[in-house]
Amino acid sequence: MRKKIVAGNWKMNLTLAQGEQLINDILQAGLKLAEGQEVVVATPFPYLTKAKAMLKNYPGFYVAAQNSASEKSGAYTGEVSAEMLQSIGVDYVILGHSERREYFNETNAILAKKVDQALAFGVKPIFCCGEPLAIREAGTQNEYVAKQLEESIFHLSAEEFKKIVIAYEPIWAIGTGLTASSAQAQDMHAFIRSQVAAKYGNEIALHTSILYGGSAKPGNAAELFACPDVDGGLIGGASLVAADFVSIIQKLA
Ligand code: G3P
Repeated sequence: MRKKIVAGNWKMNLTLAQGEQLINDILQAGLKLAEGQEVVVATPFPYLTKAKAMLKNYPGFYVAAQNSASEKSGAYTGEVSAEMLQSIGVDYVILGHSERREYFNETNAILAKKVDQALAFGVKPIFCCGEPLAIREAGTQNEYVAKQLEESIFHLSAEEFKKIVIAYEPIWAIGTGLTASSAQAQDMHAFIRSQVAAKYGNEIALHTSILYGGSAKPGNAAELFACPDVDGGLIGGASLVAADFVSIIQKLA
């Protein structure tokens, strides 16, 4: 059975004290995760060590970075490598988020190198894909997402690919309050799974967790997570409010 994951992407928000409070409030809810369920907290770089320490005695709770470098090490001022993340026990790394693609010019080719570096150091990629509004309106979203998969993660071996989590985040739904309908989400998740199956076979396709992101909230999470090919969510704004994040986690089937 594939993992069911709710990941909270804090983005560039919260002070350390606020982040500690948020994690404490989440833990105070006393969530009991079922077998195969995971909660991931993606904090800004400076808080990862603290978050890891706070979660270490809570089975099923993990930390993620929100980015990592495409190179192993060297003269890349300001960058953070996958090896550095490994050295502080980071479990996952979000790669290819649309905000990184847009604001920091991350191409599919650059992301392929970032994925390789993360896998080389045992940090599991949460690989983000998704189309802008114009592509959705043109009806070419499948071709758009297929290209992202092909150019950034379909070079991996079958064994490497098993470590990948995919997050479908329609850009037009991120931070807009305009959530994709469960039918739209299911259609794209099923398409992504079909692409994985065509490349790596059905067993790996059925093993791959595909998360939905884009205005997922307590009020829509249950319907989204009930879709057969939606394996959880990558949550932005709602992950900054403990009660909302806990409520979304509780909707995991
Ligand atoms: O990475 C998740 C994020 O892009 C979704 O943001 O605020 O629409 O849940 P939000």
